[in-house]
Amino acid sequence: MTPPVVSVEDPDTHLYGTRCFMTQANAATPTNVMLSAIQPTSQLTLGNYLGAIQNWVQLQDKYNCYFFAVDQHAITVRQNPEALRQATLTALATYVAAGVDPQRSTLFVQSHVPEHTQLCWILNCYSYMGELNRMTQYKDKSAKSGENIPAGLFTYPVLMAADILLYDAKLVPVGQDQKQHVELTRNLAQRLNNLYGDHLFVIPDCYIGSKAAKVMDLQQPTRKMSKSAENTMGTLFLMDDEKTILKKFKKAVTDSDTVIEWDKERKPGVANLIEIQSAITHTSPEEIVHNYTGKMYGHLKVETAEIVLQTLRPLQQKVHQLMEERTELEKILRHGAEKAREHAATTLKRVHDAVGFYT
Ligand code: TYM
Repeated sequence: MTPPVVSVEDPDTHLYGTRCFMTQANAATPTNVMLSAIQPTSQLTLGNYLGAIQNWVQLQDKYNCYFFAVDQHAITVRQNPEALRQATLTALATYVAAGVDPQRSTLFVQSHVPEHTQLCWILNCYSYMGELNRMTQYKDKSAKSGENIPAGLFTYPVLMAADILLYDAKLVPVGQDQKQHVELTRNLAQRLNNLYGDHLFVIPDCYIGSKAAKVMDLQQPTRKMSKSAENTMGTLFLMDDEKTILKKFKKAVTDSDTVIEWDKERKPGVANLIEIQSAITHTSPEEIVHNYTGKMYGHLKVETAEIVLQTLRPLQQKVHQLMEERTELEKILRHGAEKAREHAATTLKRVHDAVGFYT
């Protein structure tokens, strides 16, 4: 069942996003947990930053937060082991560099908390092939896998459901493409609650920012910007150097017209640049369009690059610094995993009791 969708503007952060509210209050202990994660399949992208991390940072004061790097999700597609290790640490360094406060939020690596896969197995036994088959991301990724589609790709959303339900998360801020997975999580939680009682799982809401919920590929602006795009000119990686960032924006595909308008249907390339600016500067797309009256696409491209650079320069510097002082970051992660395990173990015990495991 599709949950009701309500748009809300947060008065403190001025974040305007869409929140799928709980259909019904349930009896699980009310929590104030916000949780989200990113796959360290390569370097993180501007889409990850604007669609996810930026919102985490803006909402983090109001919640008890868990943010992690999902290395177990990452291996649903073949990875170079050393690159995965490096990308995992870099992802977490990026969270901190972007403003996630490790003193207040729990930061960790998914594989350091074995309860994720333990709960995943149980949820697998309550998930239906039909519903997993309907997942758009599975359809897209399996189409690229040839004949041998890894089973992990199919059950990937169940692991994501385990990630969320282990921590009694109330709010899951993600980009548009993950909404279907959060809805599946809600359905699974509801299914087990119906069987074993409302106390079992908190039903999570999905939070999608109204800006940059789907940052588009700079070369193919009708497609989502993705870490794994074949043509890397379309993907802006957060650690790209200045020259590359400028080049990628200058070469961004627009259209043969010259007028700057915010129209996703007719001018997806231009609209994407406007929305990137809008998400970073917290200015409305209409105001941005107004500021460009009489200007050319070239201005929009170069100025968008400049705005992105202003955000990325300090972020990159901080990431490099954190990666050099690795011990500090590693301390954060070890401590984070310990804290996460305490919460995860409590939930898992509740689930083991509910399904009838002899404990
Ligand atoms: P992933 O790693 O593909 O993306 C991480 C986050 O970035 C958002 N995102 C985007 N937002 C806007 N525009 C884009 N072009 C763009 N590309 C990515 C995603 O929506 C996401 O919020 N399955 C998840 C990871 C995950 C997870 C979780 C998320 C595993 N467990 C539990 C939340 C809660 C994924 O593959 O995201």
